[in-house]
Amino acid sequence: MSQNKPIWMEESAVFMIDQRLLPHRVETLRLDSYPETIRAIQEMAVRGAGTIGVAGGFAMAQAALDAPEAGFWEQTQRAAEEISAARPTAKNLSHAVDRVFSAMRKEKETAAARRRAVSEAQAFYDENVEMSEKIGQAGLPLLPQGKAVLTHCNAGWLACTGLGTALAPIFAAHRQGKPVFVIATETRPRGQGAKLTVWELSQAGVPHALIADTAAGHFMSRGEIGMVIVGADRIAANGDTANKIGTYTLAVLAKEHKIPFYVAAPSPTFDAGCPSGARIPIEERHEDELLRAEGSLHSGEQASIRVATPGVKARNPAFDVTPAALITAFITEAGLIQPNSAAISVFLSGK
Ligand code: MRU
Repeated sequence: MSQNKPIWMEESAVFMIDQRLLPHRVETLRLDSYPETIRAIQEMAVRGAGTIGVAGGFAMAQAALDAPEAGFWEQTQRAAEEISAARPTAKNLSHAVDRVFSAMRKEKETAAARRRAVSEAQAFYDENVEMSEKIGQAGLPLLPQGKAVLTHCNAGWLACTGLGTALAPIFAAHRQGKPVFVIATETRPRGQGAKLTVWELSQAGVPHALIADTAAGHFMSRGEIGMVIVGADRIAANGDTANKIGTYTLAVLAKEHKIPFYVAAPSPTFDAGCPSGARIPIEERHEDELLRAEGSLHSGEQASIRVATPGVKARNPAFDVTPAALITAFITEAGLIQPNSAAISVFLSGK
């Protein structure tokens, strides 16, 4: 496994760090066909909007490589639909699939279309890495002096490739020797903050502390937080933003305490065709994510234990929508974008 590479493709196989096992075990998963890659997206072996997008692009390349000569276009069209539907909220997924499929369609010969699918999927990966570097540079001057940066869920390199999105300015500052302290929320129910963000920060040597989701208001009220920075799964044309469940709560709290609230995201997360947050599809995941806890026993064995009252029913939305009015600005590969339709439209028209 090469450092900071959550996913890659070799010939027709996709390899990824199995994020379900982190931070206790670092294992690579090999997926030999596009249905296997779809399953890895659905079961969250790979997750995070940016990396889901890259996985979707690679899955599309696998579909192109596997499709028989007869019925090639019908089969790959069907695969594109299946891959795009693997998870509903992150726009990056359908963006990547559409991009790879459109590039393939420019070729007349199937052999050329197969080659084009692979090169386009890899180009999408490479561009994600470049965009994350630019997000890091754009966000770096915004980092507060002498106060902590609060982040939610995981929007580091596991979630987005490169430096990540929300964590990109933090990694960029740390690389330059600038002091930065991160407060990471646990991010119930799946614990992406406790399991993934804190692992990434520890690996990089960035000073940090983990807090319960419910402790964010406490630290804000004590004046310890100078900035909130989160990633995004889909940003509507008016700036309303879907991100991990609990983001909206943090944005309301940040407003109450007059703390700037930034959303870091590259252009493939923006959805010009979605007018507002009310139209963003919000994934509801299995109630077991809430009713049970997954982790490592003292023996090192991975385990799932029941925590909630037996027989209880649960609701488990994976994302919520933060209205544009609560967002200070978007940090993108083109710099800071104001959270309104006009600024977003100008930004996307340059793409
Ligand atoms: O369900 P996940 O883990 O795929 O969701 C990821 C998130 O919502 C992250 O918060 C992130 O900000 C978006 S990924 C860049």
